[in-house]
Amino acid sequence: PQTLYFTRHGESEYNVLGRIGGDASLSPRGALYAQALANYINALGCRDHVTVWTSERRRTKQTATDIRAPKRVVRALNELDAGICEGLTYEEMQERFPQEFAWRDQDKLRYRYPWGESYIDIMTRLRPALSALEDDHNVVVVGHQAVLRCMLGYFLDTKLDELPYMTVPLHTIVKLTSYGYKYRVEMIKLPV
Ligand code: F6P
Repeated sequence: PQTLYFTRHGESEYNVLGRIGGDASLSPRGALYAQALANYINALGCRDHVTVWTSERRRTKQTATDIRAPKRVVRALNELDAGICEGLTYEEMQERFPQEFAWRDQDKLRYRYPWGESYIDIMTRLRPALSALEDDHNVVVVGHQAVLRCMLGYFLDTKLDELPYMTVPLHTIVKLTSYGYKYRVEMIKLPV
């Protein structure tokens, strides 16, 4: 059966500061996760050939560096574009753009950042990547919080309105194993 591994990038310098978006590098703790992830995937052995997909962002590529497998950079995996709010903390967003902050709170699924994207926009751009993923063999997807909510929601049939609130913690592998046309889910937290 096909196995799909989903993980967020290791903790980034922006995660530490509570800033959204951007193209920050991994924090020291994030780098430890990259190592732990590589150890886990490399130890799966040659029976479980995998391909690694990352986004175009530094933090996902750095997280995948030490995994010994072919890698693909997939633009559709880039994180939610927060437009005018890129690089802000949520507190700064609330201060500078209170109306935007309130609108997002009222309808997080459909809310589109000015000059940026909504969760619905992500789902639209992910569609071809999701089809490719279903047709592929074993894949490790190193992605971002919002994009992974959309991908996991797709495979697990999550209700659309719950999707922007799904818990996808850092430093945890979400393993999906296909059986029939459903997927079994397992959360593997790596200690770092
Ligand atoms: O904070 C990390 C992050 O990946 C941001 O880049 C992104 O805007 C955010 O999470 C998405 O989560 P939420 O939709 O809950 O704001």
